Amino acid sequence: MENGKIKWGILGTGRIARKFAEALKSVDNSELLAVGSRLFEKAKAFANEFRVYKSYGSYEEVCRDKDIDIIYIATPHHLHCANTIMALERGKHVLCEKPFGVNGREVRQMLEKARVKNRFIMEAMWSRFLPNIIKVKEIIKSGELGKVKLVTSYFSFKSFNPPEHRHFNKELCGGSLLDIGIYPVFLSLYILGKPEKIAAMAQMSPNGIDYSCSMTFKYPDESLAVMHSSFLANEGIVSEIHCEKGKIVIPDRWFTPVSIKTVTFNGAEKDYNFEFRGNGYNYEADEAVKCVQSGKIESDIMNWNFSLDLIDTLDRIRKECGIIYPNHDFI
Ligand SMILES: NC(=O)c1ccc[n+]([C@@H]2O[C@H](COP(=O)([O-])OP(=O)(O)OC[C@H]3O[C@@H](n4cnc5c(N)ncnc54)[C@H](OP(=O)(O)O)[C@@H]3O)[C@@H](O)[C@H]2O)c1
Repeated sequence: MENGKIKWGILGTGRIARKFAEALKSVDNSELLAVGSRLFEKAKAFANEFRVYKSYGSYEEVCRDKDIDIIYIATPHHLHCANTIMALERGKHVLCEKPFGVNGREVRQMLEKARVKNRFIMEAMWSRFLPNIIKVKEIIKSGELGKVKLVTSYFSFKSFNPPEHRHFNKELCGGSLLDIGIYPVFLSLYILGKPEKIAAMAQMSPNGIDYSCSMTFKYPDESLAVMHSSFLANEGIVSEIHCEKGKIVIPDRWFTPVSIKTVTFNGAEKDYNFEFRGNGYNYEADEAVKCVQSGKIESDIMNWNFSLDLIDTLDRIRKECGIIYPNHDFI
């Protein structure tokens, strides 16, 4: 943490790694110092593009670099737990992409390691830090629309990727639920908490990943959440929160920093527009930096219990649907 700057290392050079590298440019007290790839040439090209000082041809070398404070894990799902444990073992703090682990067992292992090593760890659920999502919660808390009765939320787009791509690749723990269904599930948990009952159904691919997944959560207080995810339908990414006196609409690509609006039963509409910095991924990085600087191992905002509730809920959905990753679930 020389000169008060937190030094970042990134594992992986894919799509989200690029967005995060861009985001770090607008994060105070941060420096992207190293990037690691399975192939040195890829790390070098990434480093040249984003002006990263060090590039490595393996993830382990980034974790071994004594100048790195925190590792951002941007690899596919099947590697999150192993990469996290490796980074924590080397004394690094960790910000790990969603889903945190493939199942509750992996997430508990990661959190326990962070606790033992006394290092910060957080799931990179960037939507939790976006101004539109924070405003939704504020509106609900204010009570101006009354109690929430129904959340509808979907995240679906036609994926044109080939079967070996991580969307469809079972070895990489692909499938719509863990990749994109996690966002509607996150939103419902954030608004309504852990459900009492879950009903879920998936349309499976021949190789056993879920092409599409449909989920309903029942709560003890008369509220429901109805969600789905799909790689087959180009439906969009929209959420509505229906309350006793009206609704909150989070329009398409709701997980990005967009405006929201409320519509009451008498037709009164109110728009909320947000100013935001960077590309949106900077907010989660801001939080990680603040926590590391203040010696915290857990964020108060995206805390460990929330991540546990999230993965346990995903596990319950997978059980309902028969979505199994044999290399991880051991069943
Ligand atoms: N927060 C968000 O908005 C958001 C958006 C998209 C994805 N994600 C999450 O971010 C993670 C990565 O997604 P992505 O879209 O960046 O994926 P991607 O473009 O496929 O990149 C993944 C990277 O992981 C590395 N990797 C290691 N083993 C691999 C393997 N067997 N096959 C393919 N790649 C492998 C590769 O980097 P090297 O070859 O350089 O080692 C690859 O570039 C996932 O957990 C995903 O759910 C989050």
